[in-house]
Amino acid sequence: MPVVTIAQSKGGAGKTTLALALASEFDALGGTVHMLDADRQNSLMNWHRDREASGKGEGSRIVVEDASQLRDADIGNAIANARSRAQLIIVDSEGTSNFKTAYAAMDSDYVVIPTRSSRLDLERTVETSDMLERMCRGVAYRVLITQTGQVARSKAEWEIDAQIARALPTFPDQMHTLDAYRAMSNFRLTLAEVEAAGLARTDKARRIAQAILAQILSEIQTGERRNA
Ligand SMILES: Nc1ncnc2c1ncn2[C@@H]1O[C@H](COP(=O)(O)OP(=O)(O)OP(=O)(O)O)[C@@H](O)[C@H]1O
Ligand SMILES: [Mg+2]
Repeated sequence: MPVVTIAQSKGGAGKTTLALALASEFDALGGTVHMLDADRQNSLMNWHRDREASGKGEGSRIVVEDASQLRDADIGNAIANARSRAQLIIVDSEGTSNFKTAYAAMDSDYVVIPTRSSRLDLERTVETSDMLERMCRGVAYRVLITQTGQVARSKAEWEIDAQIARALPTFPDQMHTLDAYRAMSNFRLTLAEVEAAGLARTDKARRIAQAILAQILSEIQTGERRNA
């Protein structure tokens, strides 16, 4: 089943938030999700452990496996095993450049590079895409601009966005800064659970996550048809 790796060597770009948002919406469609936490910070593992400990997410089809302690070259085996366990596999990687992320990307069907609209993030985005071009030829990827305001964009941000879109394949949607996204990690919930608990408005957050998920799945399918 398809494997999507979230890669960005800059910390705090929104990798884990994106991983959770995509998993949330796939789960909401009734699909099973196997997440591999390849980050030694273990943000996803902690999210999952707390959920299990507090009895949250009963009936949720999201499983998280700790891949942070594996040897770099063993992530490929973990991915291969996960492929038979769920309908979507999501790998969350560390905010540093490392071989484990490169190996995970190599064995993925798709890579998303989340980035904020800042010069510092942009530099690391180019570094991450260079790594993909050199080491993971043939793996489709796109940059996702994250943590943007919903309305006003500064001229500097707008110019950085335009620069990214000119240089690299970029999602038409941006992942705005929204309370609903923050609530997923704060309350250890999926977006649908945040909505059900009335903790934040989730309509916009869910629409964006659904659009990104749909684009990823459709591009994976198109790629498979091309290679068939
Ligand atoms: N779209 C968003 N809306 C609101 N808050 C966000 C959004 N994206 C990220 N955040 C917040 O920003 C912080 C960093 O995000 P996150 O942990 O997802 O980044 P990361 O790339 O996984 O970081 P690291 O490299 O440390 O793993 C978190 O507190 C998260 O809740
Ligand atoms: Mg993270």
